Amino acid sequence: TSFTAHAQERPGINYDEAKAGGIPNLDPLTASDGTKITTKEQWLEKRKPELMKLFASEVYGKTPEGQGVETKAQLVGQDTAAFGGKAIMRQVKLTFSSSRNGRKAIADLLIYIPKGLTKPAPAFVQLNFGGNHYTTSDPSIPISDAWFRNDKDGNYVNNKATEKSRNSGERRWPYKEIIERGYAVCTAYYGDFDPDFDDGFQNGVQPLFYKDGQTKPAADEWGSIGAWAWGMSRMADYLQGVPEVDGKKLISVGHSRLGKTSLWAGAQDERFGIVVSNDSGAGGAALSKRIFGETVAVLNKSFPHWFCDNFNKYSDNEKDLPVDQHELIALMTPRPVYIASATEDNWADQKGEFLGGKLAEPVYALFSLKGLGVDEPPAPDKSVGDAIGYHNRTGKHDILLYDWEQYMNFADKHWGKPQ
Ligand code: GCU
Repeated sequence: TSFTAHAQERPGINYDEAKAGGIPNLDPLTASDGTKITTKEQWLEKRKPELMKLFASEVYGKTPEGQGVETKAQLVGQDTAAFGGKAIMRQVKLTFSSSRNGRKAIADLLIYIPKGLTKPAPAFVQLNFGGNHYTTSDPSIPISDAWFRNDKDGNYVNNKATEKSRNSGERRWPYKEIIERGYAVCTAYYGDFDPDFDDGFQNGVQPLFYKDGQTKPAADEWGSIGAWAWGMSRMADYLQGVPEVDGKKLISVGHSRLGKTSLWAGAQDERFGIVVSNDSGAGGAALSKRIFGETVAVLNKSFPHWFCDNFNKYSDNEKDLPVDQHELIALMTPRPVYIASATEDNWADQKGEFLGGKLAEPVYALFSLKGLGVDEPPAPDKSVGDAIGYHNRTGKHDILLYDWEQYMNFADKHWGKPQ
């Protein structure tokens, strides 16, 4: 599908390690005013809020505060014997209404919860690329009638999902294996929160927050990644009220552009107790000041709606960026964070993703936590790390059972196996 199409070599893109520019010298523990951060208190009180502000105003755009937008949840479908009786399936419609301007948006959640546990289940929260129906063969899940990017396989035509798209994302959604390990999963189509095209922010959830006369977000306000991350937080809100789910054990996960989103959601919302980035690349876990594979300029040109307008200042001008992506990873401290790459995904810069974790280690050390525990990227298909995890799966840009197994092992290690 178009979601996985990646030209490995594109004109003007650097894939030469010797020209990648070395390791940026941005020390996460030096504040803007030059203060050296040496304790976790200083980190939490001074440096962390400063970095949060910079990522908001210069990279992803500020997320508006919740005021004026109300959420209503409605159970629209349930199967208490899904997966041969092993799980409960629920479909929930979230309706967001703005009291500022009367605008509405709707997001459809699909939730699978394992049965037979004695305690509420930890849950993965992950947006999907193809509609809820694309993650499963369950015929009770309606084909989404939202706007979709077209693909080459005829699953999405004229920006609509066809019947052929049902279950076409199955390899990315190993529900059965996840349920059998005692984890719940909550998903929604990312385009329900903001369709993934540049329309000047007339659709999606942004307009719900417009003030009188406002027609688009300001230069330091959210783009699509911000809206998708907001959506993940609304999913987390809903899960707080689900008795079979442990609302304190939520794991944000996302692949590619949704991996960037998972990190930004995790940075802003501490209810994500573990944060996972799968092949998130540029604007995700990969360092921006390392010039390898996709760059800030390419991101801004191909996807002008993903980041805030201020991020354009750094196209071909990475040196002026006041932050780099290891500092986004560091915003998760002391929560565990896991970063994954794929061997054939050099567009996402595997080494840059590894370094995104590596250079966050000094911040974890303030909390007496160990990070990756290695100085060089591990061999393919080897998972490393403690509070910061990493692997480089053999194969293409994708999220597959192997990746999920590492995330479940990581969650088991930090939280214990679900009981
Ligand atoms: C493109 C884009 C990446 C993104 C990817 C995806 O390749 O350049 O930044 O991560 O799409 O979302 O699949």
